[in-house]
Amino acid sequence: MCGIVSVLTFEKEIIECLISSLERLEYRGYDSAGIAYIDENSKIERIRRVGKVAHLRQAVEKLNTNSHIGIGHTRWATHGKAIEKNAHPHIAGGVAIVHNGIIENFEQIKRELLNEGEVFESDSDSEVIAKLISYHIKTGLSFTEAMKTSMPRLKGTYAIAAIYEKQPNVLIGTKKGSPMAVGLSSDGRSIFIASDSVALSSLAGQITYLEDGDFVICLKEEEITYKILDSSFSEVNRSLILNNIAQNTVTKSGFADFMLKEIFEEPNTALETFNNFGSPIDLSQYKNISLIACGTSYYAGVLAKYWIEDLVGIHTDVEIASEFRYRNPVLSKSTLYIFISQSGETIDTLNALRNVKAQGLDTLSIVNVESSSIDREAKYKIKTSAGPEIGVASTKSFIAQALSLLLLFVDKNKIDIKEITHAMNEVISQYEKIKNVANKIKNSKSLLYIGRGTSYPIALEGALKAKELSYISAEGYPSGEIKHGPMALVDESIYSIILAPQDKYFEKTISNAQEILARNGRVLFITNEGVQLNFGQASYLYVPKIDPTAQPFVLTTAIHLLAYYIAKQKGLNVDQPRNLAKSVTVE
Ligand code: G6P
Repeated sequence: MCGIVSVLTFEKEIIECLISSLERLEYRGYDSAGIAYIDENSKIERIRRVGKVAHLRQAVEKLNTNSHIGIGHTRWATHGKAIEKNAHPHIAGGVAIVHNGIIENFEQIKRELLNEGEVFESDSDSEVIAKLISYHIKTGLSFTEAMKTSMPRLKGTYAIAAIYEKQPNVLIGTKKGSPMAVGLSSDGRSIFIASDSVALSSLAGQITYLEDGDFVICLKEEEITYKILDSSFSEVNRSLILNNIAQNTVTKSGFADFMLKEIFEEPNTALETFNNFGSPIDLSQYKNISLIACGTSYYAGVLAKYWIEDLVGIHTDVEIASEFRYRNPVLSKSTLYIFISQSGETIDTLNALRNVKAQGLDTLSIVNVESSSIDREAKYKIKTSAGPEIGVASTKSFIAQALSLLLLFVDKNKIDIKEITHAMNEVISQYEKIKNVANKIKNSKSLLYIGRGTSYPIALEGALKAKELSYISAEGYPSGEIKHGPMALVDESIYSIILAPQDKYFEKTISNAQEILARNGRVLFITNEGVQLNFGQASYLYVPKIDPTAQPFVLTTAIHLLAYYIAKQKGLNVDQPRNLAKSVTVE
């Protein structure tokens, strides 16, 4: 995964510029962070720290440098533990690089270089890139030629920014499979290469995106210039666009965590999504819908399948992007392929989109981050109105994605947005009660979320949120399916969360809950106000009863708050859970 940034400038404040960009890239990983720059004596200096960018910020606080060129990296560990020696930048023979992606043949390259007498410091696949470039420089190639010669050796994916201490006025970037943005400051005095435009939000007025195999060679002479070369090293034009990503000044606004703030924003997200929605496409030409996504976005797709088939009768499939992209799906011209992603950078969703596009078929993206790769590459686009989401676990984005999908297929006038947002706010107002219930649940060995119909995808989402935030093993299941396995697990150490709104499945779901209670399982019912349930040993949360189509929005806010409080009461970091990243940019 990982985020990269680099700068070549006439200005002096490169450290702050690198660090603040890395903070904006932290959604790509926070196992370690590092920067390298060429100092006034043409020597590379490097500072790396394990953990969040905040640690790196502390380490560079008193640093005073006149450097005009530097690179930075925030890491989500793939090859090699999250320890300092594996943190980027990697350096070899005066070359420093930062890398996003995975070099699949790094072991082979490493063996060859070891045979040539090279010595390696890390367990990272990325180190071979620096070694390979410096190896070619030693054989007499220029920095640029060494880059050009090295890249075809690499299998896998990469976005690389490189500097070389003997040429402190040259910054080179190249990419294959991973995104790379080149940004120019409005005054023309600085140029940047980074993973995305968000990293450059306050720095670059104009952005261009590299294509696979491209190199960008940036020079600082009388002025800053750059040229883009394709894989055959012919100069090419890539269009410049305005970088209209607003500077990221998102704060917690008095909330304890971003996640809590983002859950509290769910009703407003629903309202904004409703107000801003406009369909970009005439759906009458399609006989089938295929929804493709990962993680929480995938569950928004599972929910939409229920709505689309039930309300408009169009056959709908939901696909996990990492499976869809590698199997041989039967694709058809009469299908609209919809790609759902908060970040717009999830590599499996992006590559699934590319596969469909390559067949000349229609693609629609539902993305929260404007100008992200998926947003740029889809034919038709819907931008969700969730606003910046900082908590690694998606919350309000799920609401925006699900409502966008509903609005795409169902006439706006049939949706009572006031009723929805009012009910969601009512759930939020019960946060003390939800906190108390979470306290009962927090020491469970595992959690079982069950529901039928549209409550089933919410059970999936509830279980995902619980496991990623509280590290309690949790499963989401269709209620009718628990007798086919999960029931064997049920005893007093397991808490089952029963999503039982008063819909056509209500009685059946309650019967399933009774089967759990009969086996000493502990149970929390999330049901509608007015429902009379009287199972002595169970816990209850009551949410407003609204139009059954919209009921999942209300249940979602309840299960998000529940997951939040379970994790909080275990003293865990809810905004940045261990081992995860907000955007999964490696497969
Ligand atoms: C990661 C995040 C999840 C998110 C998933 C898909 O796993 O932690 O919160 O749902 O990626 O991300 P996307 O940006 O494509 O929605």
